[in-house]
Amino acid sequence: MNRMPKSYDKYTDIHIHVIPGVDDGSGDPDMSMEMLRYAYAEGIGRMIVTPHNKPMHHNAGREKIEQLIQLLETRMRQEGIAIELYPGNELYYREELAERIEQGRALTMAGSKYVLIEFMPSDGWEYIRDGVNNMLMAGYRPILAHIERYQEVCRDIERAVRLHEMGCYIQVNTASLMGRYGMGIKGYIKKLLKQQLVDFVATDAHNAANRAPDMDKCAEYIARKYGGDYLRKLLVENPERVIRDEYI
Ligand SMILES: [Fe+2]
Repeated sequence: MNRMPKSYDKYTDIHIHVIPGVDDGSGDPDMSMEMLRYAYAEGIGRMIVTPHNKPMHHNAGREKIEQLIQLLETRMRQEGIAIELYPGNELYYREELAERIEQGRALTMAGSKYVLIEFMPSDGWEYIRDGVNNMLMAGYRPILAHIERYQEVCRDIERAVRLHEMGCYIQVNTASLMGRYGMGIKGYIKKLLKQQLVDFVATDAHNAANRAPDMDKCAEYIARKYGGDYLRKLLVENPERVIRDEYI
């Protein structure tokens, strides 16, 4: 299950909705190919693909996701696009989530112990903290998807510190750091980066238009403001640890 990475020099996007026809991301294989072409031009060489997995939804299972990965890999080979794809999910947190994973009805990141989890933007601080803790207690390594979206977490930087200390990894979206959702959100992420509280920067792309896999400008910005070493950690080394199922 755990494929070993072949390339080391390109960015890895650990959060992207490029699998066609399974969620609100790519609608069909042609659109996925547009996203992959775009991502390749942005310097992305590996992706953990993360279709939504939510309650009350028809969620694509492992087999379906693997099948669609193969389809995209075949088309990429024909076009000379060299992006390695690894299966994953963006897991909407609910109490029975760990059980769902055990049952094989929800996927971890590239078959590792890492799980990408999301909450409702309006969920309370205690609910999010306890949800993260439940995943830790179940033996998983939670990565909190787009931390900048949770109003109650962003209210106080100490809350991000607390989550990090608990053993939760923190992911932010490239578009948020580049200011698409306002200066407040951008400023919050800058504070996190300054304190090295961010573990992953990812595109969370849903298409090749208004939510495209933009990466390069953001990477350049991070390298300039926070240094090349930190950039390498965020976009190369930490994702590689996830794929290899090693501790960060
Ligand atoms: Fe997402």
